[in-house]
Amino acid sequence: MKTFCTRKAFAAIVLFLMAFTLIFVLRHMDILQPLSPQDALEERLILDSIAWPETPLLPSPISLEQTTDPAHSTFTILPGRKGGQWHVGDQLEVMIQTFDFQGRPKKSGGDFITARLHNRKLEAGVVGQVVDHLNGSYSAVFSLLWEGDALVEVTLVHPGEAFSVLDRLNKEQPDRIYFKSVFRSGSLSETTICDVCLRPTKQPLCNFTDLRTGEPWFCYKPKNLGCDTRINHFMGGTTQNISANEEKLFHSGVNLKVNIRASGPASVTLLPEKIGQLKVKSATVTSGPSGYYYQGVWRAVGGLTIHQFNTSAITQCLKGKAVHMYGDSTVRQWFEFLNVVLPGLKEFDLHSPKQAGPYISLDFANNILVTSRFHGPPIRIVTVSTSDLRYIANELDGLIGGPNTVVVFGIWAHFGTFPMEIYIRRLQSIRRAVVRLLDRAPGTLVAIRTGNPKFLNLFVSLTNSDWHSLQCNNVLRAMFKGLKVHLIDAWEMTLAHHLPHNLHPPPPIIKNMINNLLSYICPQKGG
Ligand SMILES: *[C@@H]1O[C@H](CO)[C@@H](O)[C@H](O)[C@H]1NC(C)=O
Ligand SMILES: *[C@@H]1O[C@H](CO)[C@@H](O)[C@H](O)[C@H]1NC(C)=O
Ligand SMILES: *[C@@H]1O[C@H](CO)[C@@H](O)[C@H](O)[C@H]1NC(C)=O
Ligand SMILES: *[C@@H]1O[C@H](CO)[C@@H](O)[C@H](O)[C@H]1NC(C)=O
Repeated sequence: MKTFCTRKAFAAIVLFLMAFTLIFVLRHMDILQPLSPQDALEERLILDSIAWPETPLLPSPISLEQTTDPAHSTFTILPGRKGGQWHVGDQLEVMIQTFDFQGRPKKSGGDFITARLHNRKLEAGVVGQVVDHLNGSYSAVFSLLWEGDALVEVTLVHPGEAFSVLDRLNKEQPDRIYFKSVFRSGSLSETTICDVCLRPTKQPLCNFTDLRTGEPWFCYKPKNLGCDTRINHFMGGTTQNISANEEKLFHSGVNLKVNIRASGPASVTLLPEKIGQLKVKSATVTSGPSGYYYQGVWRAVGGLTIHQFNTSAITQCLKGKAVHMYGDSTVRQWFEFLNVVLPGLKEFDLHSPKQAGPYISLDFANNILVTSRFHGPPIRIVTVSTSDLRYIANELDGLIGGPNTVVVFGIWAHFGTFPMEIYIRRLQSIRRAVVRLLDRAPGTLVAIRTGNPKFLNLFVSLTNSDWHSLQCNNVLRAMFKGLKVHLIDAWEMTLAHHLPHNLHPPPPIIKNMINNLLSYICPQKGG
């Protein structure tokens, strides 16, 4: 049996089930509310824009032989138009050639490759833009932003062959991480399974679709209790369901986040910028990095100057302001950071469950309010009371807003098991609320934290892969383009940094993110 999360999957499902349960299927067709024509068109355009290059299907059972082997693959620094001399302000281009496990050059693209240029001593780092030539070779293009040595690092995150597995899992088993709710009335208590969409069974459903946002949510109806007796939400467990054979495509140390070696030198020395000289830019990429590290400090490229805010500068910046944070635990990290560094900011004990919140902190002397709240289901962490399950869009509708209001949100890490349609829908409802907020209170500052790369093993790859996070980020960018909101590029800030990837980036990275946020709030202040 399959689920009914997407209309695309639906076509396949109809064929699959038509013979025996057509009527039953049709009854469930609209388990997700239909999108407005405008939203549906946007969804299609966005899905097209994030379409990943196809990789030829592997014969079954899977053998790694024809899949990308990072150990056989190599990269080469191209000499460039100045014949092996690079100045700050130029670009450096690296050609990556992939090979399979038998040592044969790959002829198709679709691998997920990341690239970084860095200097550990200078604590400098920048992310390279990777271009897939669809013939087994890739380019990585780096903006050159500091003087001195620069070492190229190229990483195969996943071979292209992994994505048909991940795609299929998200379509067919979005419930491989599943949720539950307790229903309780008097001495009666029952627990049932809940999700964005549920597998059709004979069991009746409770429909908890949010009436204001249209966010879908369902639980199987308890046998002896009414739907209105639901008291909480929690993660039920996981049903990892891929064959040992498919697991080979996600093998740590073999083909999961493994570095690719250089065929020749892996580093270059960058000379000082030549004033008045034409900059050499690659024809391959049009977009550059959003920033880079130098001496451990994140600097934005283009536009914004990021200031370094010490404790008193943070307090000065936030004086008289209310900062409302919404999202997953990666946003909660920012709340925690401010509580740690600001001596005047005191957390009020709401007796909230650890990890889930909501949280509230106050600095009375400076009239600073900081709040943090989870983004509504799906929430994979601890048990959350139904009365604390709030969608970001509805929370934003409850804000008056204005020049003393800062809104920060980040939502990505709990969506990794679902088809992208679910994430697009969620962002559409949040964006509508952001537009309403900015219409009624144009002075409100809205900042969005993107998803970041993290430690990957088999389990994480299958439930919250960097590949999925990257696509969430692309969807996010496309959907908030042109709005008066600020993106904080957690992806590049984590990827460019020398510290290991972590779902929860370590304090030096958080500090840079906070400085980035504060520089949007207080562009003139700070050191
Ligand atoms: C769930 O409720 C929403 C909102 O009332 C409704 O639009 C939708 O059709 C319902 N879905 C099902 C499967 O009953
Ligand atoms: C792959 O395509 C790139 C860009 O068009 C080209 O430079 C490269 O030579 C091609 N590689 C092969 C093996 O054909
Ligand atoms: C898991 O896989 C087995 C064998 O392929 C299949 O019978 C079962 O229905 C799957 N379970 C889920 C939850 O998809
Ligand atoms: C903090 O930064 C401000 C503004 O940049 C500066 O004037 C002040 O001296 C700094 N305070 C400390 C304790 O470093």
